[in-house]
Amino acid sequence: MKQLSEKYKITTPSKSANLEIIRDFVGKLARRAGFSEDHVNKIQLATDEACTNVVKHAYKNVPAGPIEVDVTLNREKFVVTVSDKGIGFDLNNLVQPNMVEYLNQYKKGGLGIHLIQTLMDEVVFKVNPFHKNSVKMVKYIHRSESADKLRQQEMIMERTKNRG
Ligand SMILES: Nc1ncnc2c1ncn2[C@@H]1O[C@H](COP(=O)(O)OP(=O)(O)OP(=O)(O)O)[C@@H](O)[C@H]1O
Ligand SMILES: [Mg+2]
Repeated sequence: MKQLSEKYKITTPSKSANLEIIRDFVGKLARRAGFSEDHVNKIQLATDEACTNVVKHAYKNVPAGPIEVDVTLNREKFVVTVSDKGIGFDLNNLVQPNMVEYLNQYKKGGLGIHLIQTLMDEVVFKVNPFHKNSVKMVKYIHRSESADKLRQQEMIMERTKNRG
């Protein structure tokens, strides 16, 4: 049976000052979908990293454009898609740091995407420069994660608490 999905969307100018608005938007919907506060925080952090990438990387050398955040939710899953119309990037160049490197190098950058992949259940990138570059991030509402993944997520959440 096809499940009814609800769709929500927010579009903001690509400025760090708007990340809080997006964080609240996604957080409220995730809470309503039934996630625990722990999971809400993970979804918010993943969304924040995706939006920070738009602010930092997408609109380099072109006039700043929009960040679009789409949320689709049903009883099974919560899907956040962050899109931009910026320069895009080469998916083949994304490196996969391991957790030890993550902890040692976090402050040096280059780990946002790894963090998104660890916090969320499924992550799909689509790149179409100046038209639509997107990262789709899925969190299942009833899924128990492996002990190993949970531990990695906890390390990230603990680590980013003190991130300034
Ligand atoms: N929306 C985007 N538009 C253009 N390039 C992007 C986008 N998202 C990611 N990238 C590219 O992918 C690289 C890796 O992103 P990632 O978030 O993992 O690291 P970072 O942003 O460089 O550092 P950190 O997130 O740790 O501060 C970025 O350096 C950038 O080149
Ligand atoms: Mg980043």
